[in-house]
Amino acid sequence: MTALNADAARDLETIRDALLSGDREFDRRLDEHFARLHGLFFRLYGERLDGLDALRDTILVAADSWDARPTALRSRDAERELPSETHADSGTSDTLSVTSGAARQPWFADNRLIGGVAYVDRYAGDLAGLRERIPDFRELGLGWLHLMPLFRTPAPESDDDGGYAVSSYREVDARLGTIDDLRAAIADLHESGISTVLDFVFNHTSNEHEWAQKAVAGEPGFEDFYLIFDDRELPDRYEQTVREIFPDDHPGSFVQLPDGRWIWSTFHHYQWDLNYANPAVFRAMAGEMLFLANLGVDVLRMDAVAFIWKRLGTPSESLPEAHLLLQAFNAVLAIAAPGVVFLSEAIVHPDEVVDYVSTEECRLSYNPLQMALTWEALATRDPRMLGQALERRHALPAGTAWVNYVRGHDDIGWTFDDADAAEFGIDGREHRRFLNDFYSGSFEGSFARGVLFQENPRTGDARVAGTTASLAGVEARDPGGVERVVLAHAIAFSTGGVPLIYLGDEVGQLNDASYADDPALAADARWIHRPAYPAEAYATRDDDRTVAGWINRWMRRLVEVRQTTPELAGTTLLPFDARTPHVLAFQRTSDDAPETTVLVLANFGDEDAVIGAEVLSGFAPIATELITGRLANLAQGIALAPRHFAWLRVHPASAVGPERF
Ligand code: GLC
Ligand code: GLC
Repeated sequence: MTALNADAARDLETIRDALLSGDREFDRRLDEHFARLHGLFFRLYGERLDGLDALRDTILVAADSWDARPTALRSRDAERELPSETHADSGTSDTLSVTSGAARQPWFADNRLIGGVAYVDRYAGDLAGLRERIPDFRELGLGWLHLMPLFRTPAPESDDDGGYAVSSYREVDARLGTIDDLRAAIADLHESGISTVLDFVFNHTSNEHEWAQKAVAGEPGFEDFYLIFDDRELPDRYEQTVREIFPDDHPGSFVQLPDGRWIWSTFHHYQWDLNYANPAVFRAMAGEMLFLANLGVDVLRMDAVAFIWKRLGTPSESLPEAHLLLQAFNAVLAIAAPGVVFLSEAIVHPDEVVDYVSTEECRLSYNPLQMALTWEALATRDPRMLGQALERRHALPAGTAWVNYVRGHDDIGWTFDDADAAEFGIDGREHRRFLNDFYSGSFEGSFARGVLFQENPRTGDARVAGTTASLAGVEARDPGGVERVVLAHAIAFSTGGVPLIYLGDEVGQLNDASYADDPALAADARWIHRPAYPAEAYATRDDDRTVAGWINRWMRRLVEVRQTTPELAGTTLLPFDARTPHVLAFQRTSDDAPETTVLVLANFGDEDAVIGAEVLSGFAPIATELITGRLANLAQGIALAPRHFAWLRVHPASAVGPERF
């Protein structure tokens, strides 16, 4: 056994050469990424005797996985493989031929790409049913579908955290179908131009995963797969600095085993955190990751990324090692499934969210700040915090993108930065309390019908659950409700990256409180916004005298316009001061067509707003409003009805010729 120490580091080439597989493609990528992976292992596991073994075994797993990778997926890899930063940085400018000229845009930067999210069981019964719904996905214009977790869990009939307690990453929940059905569904989706997103739930497994059982039984090789403690001494010390995530389920971050020992469980008592300080865990999970990749998945959603590394005396969230681990998984992927990208699920402080986004870690990330502040602006009718976030927290490195959503399957947490809020004289703590009151409907005059999730009386913390329509006022029959549903999506569709629709929201689906009658689900309020397929609403989706039809007509228009407007993709966003209360404004330019700009104006207020001609005088007077397709005369100012928005294709004033109204 060799220690992964400085001597070993010197022998880098010898080690790599011994691992070459003879497959030209694989060896080329191993050659390109091995030094990076080795360096990461050295930093993570340099102190351990078994580090180098785990590295070697990881490469062997990767080689087997590449060997088994279907030809169709290998061709996709070839189309999608993107130069990594290290690669680009490692040469002088002459050797940058990979990216020279017009930098190649990653596939997910396409303005035609619109995403959807659904639970297979709730939306379509099972995987066969899902395949039958593909025409509906196409009708809506989806090019991305996140299938919520669908692997084997301990108690699918009762409580398995909606599939996030995985007992086997290689077996599908039997009620949904088989692993072959999943493979076939993914292939069908791909055939229809739809990429598949699956979760890589890698922070924890369920308590019934075979590794978990073996760890508890003390089976050699598995004792250290999880974090198990004989008594409360260390758990007590850890808990002094670690946040409680699901206090309704259990206090703190540990649960007691029947034999009296304690095991780290950040989320529910049946979700046990893996111990990544053990390199064997990395190796094992790299194998599961590549298995998922070989199913034909395009995007792996990296569940709960912030929590994967723990250290005493710290919050054990977003530690430097969490980033090293992601980089190591990224390197393995780059070697054995280079067409696949990671989506970061870090619902944390905005400074921490962006740290996960790079070509070396996750190329995609949810944008929880924009999501939360869209709701904040709807409640307050004041979009200044949202505008500030777009101005200072929107930029991302080249080759990466946000996934912009209005709401997901999880709760809404108010993850803004207190100092940002203080610039407007807003007290973060107070404001979060107000937003929780507002969205749970207890604030007088609120249009929202949400419920609180994980209210923690000890800390005063809580988050909000509810469907988009219920939170926006449709359920309360507030006259502005339907417009807020559209406005929220109009923001997500115009700030770049991948816009995401939680399927059902595009027909204004309401909360379903019936989860409370199901003892298995009653304790988790997030089920209120995970209802079953709304057959009735879909049946009237073409009738715009109905709420479903009205919302759907607008949603389809948003999709259509976004798909024909390259300016709305990419990451470039320029602030614009509309100098009009209640109005959010920003400009988007396309990476491919920098000469045109789309000016987005959105009125969050309850009154008409007029953006004056002088504010718009930097643009040529004639602009096209893309949603209506009509010409607008900026010299007369732009009037926006309450909760309405405009996407204006504008030109610089200097560019204008004789054309005038
Ligand atoms: C992620 C999921 C959430 C789940 C948690 C634990 O945050 O989105 O639904 O409860 O991870 O896996
Ligand atoms: C997961 C949980 C969410 C929690 C978050 C903390 O997303 O579902 O409730 O706020 O993790 O990072």
